[in-house]
Amino acid sequence: MNPEQRYERHKTSVEKYLRSFITDHKPQTLYSPAKYVLVAGGKRIRPVLTLLACEAVGGDASTALHAGAGIEILHNFTLVHDDIMDHADTRRGRLTVHKKWDENVAILSGDALLAFAYRALLRTKSTRIQEVSKIFTEGVVTICEGQSLDKEFETRHRVHVNEYLMMIEKKTGKLVSIAAQIGALIGNASASDLEALRRYGEYVGRAFQIQDDLLDITADEKEFGKTIGGDLVEGKKTFLLLEALRRAKGDQKKMLQRIFTNGGVPRKQVPAFRLIYEETGAIESAQKRIENDIMDAKNQLSMLPASPARETLRWMTDKLLNRKF
Ligand code: IPE
Ligand code: IPE
Ligand code: MG
Ligand code: MG
Ligand code: MG
Repeated sequence: MNPEQRYERHKTSVEKYLRSFITDHKPQTLYSPAKYVLVAGGKRIRPVLTLLACEAVGGDASTALHAGAGIEILHNFTLVHDDIMDHADTRRGRLTVHKKWDENVAILSGDALLAFAYRALLRTKSTRIQEVSKIFTEGVVTICEGQSLDKEFETRHRVHVNEYLMMIEKKTGKLVSIAAQIGALIGNASASDLEALRRYGEYVGRAFQIQDDLLDITADEKEFGKTIGGDLVEGKKTFLLLEALRRAKGDQKKMLQRIFTNGGVPRKQVPAFRLIYEETGAIESAQKRIENDIMDAKNQLSMLPASPARETLRWMTDKLLNRKF
């Protein structure tokens, strides 16, 4: 089995798990949106990471499937509420839950998804389930902190890049990192393998969010499945904006500063801002940053014993660098 085949095999087992996970039908306004979200596709990188981390430390991937699915369900819960908070109309090429139904439905089905995440996770049979549950629970709290900071920054006039990095570490990095840690724990990892995988997840998670910021402005909308320029419209403090601000002069600087005073940008101005991001070198700088984090992530993998799972992690890490959605 080559890395791609191993990756696909794990992804398929996660998809299958999620498809058959919810069997209830009524009330419809709870279960229909929950199912809608769980079968919508998505890259499934977090659960695959859980399975691979388990294998990479010598465990059997199938023992981590409940937990991997739990992590993916948790991820989907955060997306449903995130889309309300970010006023997003589309995700994975389809209407978001609060657009297809309404906000109350999205809040409540999100709540249920969080409980479903625990339902799946707690089916795990492992001598280390206590540690797994603790890491998962602290992870949820950290994501909420990150999301809270993300919203606070929208109305802040000054955000330092270090504050941004702390924010994305919480809202995105943490989940990737616990996905790896939880897989490793279920595989009964040594302390050093566990630490390597935790750090691997942190680096990948950071690269992943900076790339998401980048794709928000450079991606092809159809491929990306989300509306381009949403971060500018919402006044998000992204890596690109902070970097462009640091580099811009004169009129470009004034234009960027308008995001702060107006709390966002009218949609029709998005292309003009993209041009500023290009001309100031902010886009290139983001790309460099992503490449660096990916390199650091791969260095953490070198600490693990050689195995097909480790090679698959390496392959997956490289794939992330070139993703288009
Ligand atoms: C989207 O995550 C939210 C971020 C943390 C950027 P993904 O890009 O993994 O979304 P899906 O699950 O593949 O749709
Ligand atoms: C995602 O950040 C963070 C979480 C969902 C926790 P974004 O708001 O950038 O994610 P997308 O772009 O909507 O997927
Ligand atoms: Mg958001
Ligand atoms: Mg969002
Ligand atoms: Mg985004």
